[in-house]
Amino acid sequence: MGLIDRIKNKARSCTKRIVLPEGDEPRTIAAAKTIEDEGLAEPILIGSGFVRSKADEYAAALYELRKAKGLTPEKAAELVADPMYYGMMMVKSGDADGLVSGAIHSTGDMLRPALQIIKTRPGMKLVSSSFLMECPDRSLGEDGLLVYADCVVNPCPNAEELAHIAIATAETARTLCGIAEPRVALLSFSTKGSANHELVSKVRAATEIAHSLAPDLLLDGELQFDAAIVPEVAALKAKGSPIGGRANVFVFPDLQAGNIGYKITQRIGGADCFAVLQGLAKPCNDLSRGCSPDDIVNTVAATAVQAMGVLA
Ligand code: ACO
Repeated sequence: MGLIDRIKNKARSCTKRIVLPEGDEPRTIAAAKTIEDEGLAEPILIGSGFVRSKADEYAAALYELRKAKGLTPEKAAELVADPMYYGMMMVKSGDADGLVSGAIHSTGDMLRPALQIIKTRPGMKLVSSSFLMECPDRSLGEDGLLVYADCVVNPCPNAEELAHIAIATAETARTLCGIAEPRVALLSFSTKGSANHELVSKVRAATEIAHSLAPDLLLDGELQFDAAIVPEVAALKAKGSPIGGRANVFVFPDLQAGNIGYKITQRIGGADCFAVLQGLAKPCNDLSRGCSPDDIVNTVAATAVQAMGVLA
C-alpha cells in the first residue's frame, strides 16, 4: 500500500476537524465533499455562508497574543474578518484540529499567520517543511519514498537552523511516513571535503550540530546527492559513511536548492508528492496554487494524521 493510502486509512480511524478557509473556491468545495464521503475528516469550510459566531472572542484573543507586536484591538477585529486568520484562531483555540489552505493564497500569505498565531511547538526551534516524494523506482530511499527538506519555508537557514531542520524531518519521516529508521543526508556540492567553500562549511557545521543534538540519529554530511542515494557512489566517495548511499531523508542546504530539487524529482523523476509543515504547535498545511481536489484531499488526510501524532 502506498503512503497516501496508509495516511488515509489512519485519518479514517479518528475524525479530526480540519478548517478549509478558502471555502468558496471550487476545488476546495469538491475536495470537502470527498473528504466527507470518504470519512477522512470533518471539513469546516469558511465560505460566504459561514457564520463567524466567535469573531469577537477570537479578536480579543488575537489582540492579547499580538499586542506586544503592536497589534491594536481594531486591527485584530479586522484580521479575524479574514477567513485565514479566523481559521487559524479556530485551530489555536481548539475549535478545530488543523487547517489546510493555499489553493488561492501564496505560501507566504498562508505561512505568516500560522507562524504568528499557531507558533512553534515547545522544544522546536523553527517551522520547516517536509516534501514526501513517492518515486516509481522502489529501490530508492525507503521503498521508493524520499523525504526532502526544506523546500517551502526557510529561504536561507544557518548551520544551527539546518541541523534543527534535519532532526525535525527525521521525526516527520518516523511519525507521518512510518519510516522506522530515518537515514538523513545533509546535502552539498561537496562530499566529505572534496570541495572547500563557506557554503560547504555551513553544511559540515550543521551535521556536527545535528550529531550533538541527536546522537542516536543515523545522519551524515556533507554529501552530494549521488553519494547519499547510490551505494556504489557512496563506497567510492564517502567510505565509512553510516548512510552508505541508502539515505531516505534528504536535507537541502537552502530553499533554492530544496525547491528546485523537489520539482526536478516530481517533473523528471515522475514522483508523486505533497508537502507538510513541521514544527508548528498544531498542524496547518499549505497547498500549491496549481493543486487539484485530490491534492487537497491528500493534504487534509495528512493534516488529520499529524493532529493524531503518528501514522503507525
Ligand atoms: N519558524 C518559526 N517562526 C518563524 C519562521 C520559522 N521558520 N520564520 C519566521 N518566523 C516568525 C518570526 O519570528 C515572526 O514572529 P513574530 O511576528 O511573532 O515575531 C513571524 O514569523 C513573521 O516573521 P517575518 O520574518 O516578519 O516574516 P516574513 O515576512 O519573513 O515571512 C516567511 C516568513 C513567510 C516564512 C518567509 O520566510 C517566506 O516567504 N518564505 C518562503 C515561502 C515561499 O515562497 N516558499 C516557496 C514556494 S512553496 C512551494 O513551491 C511548494
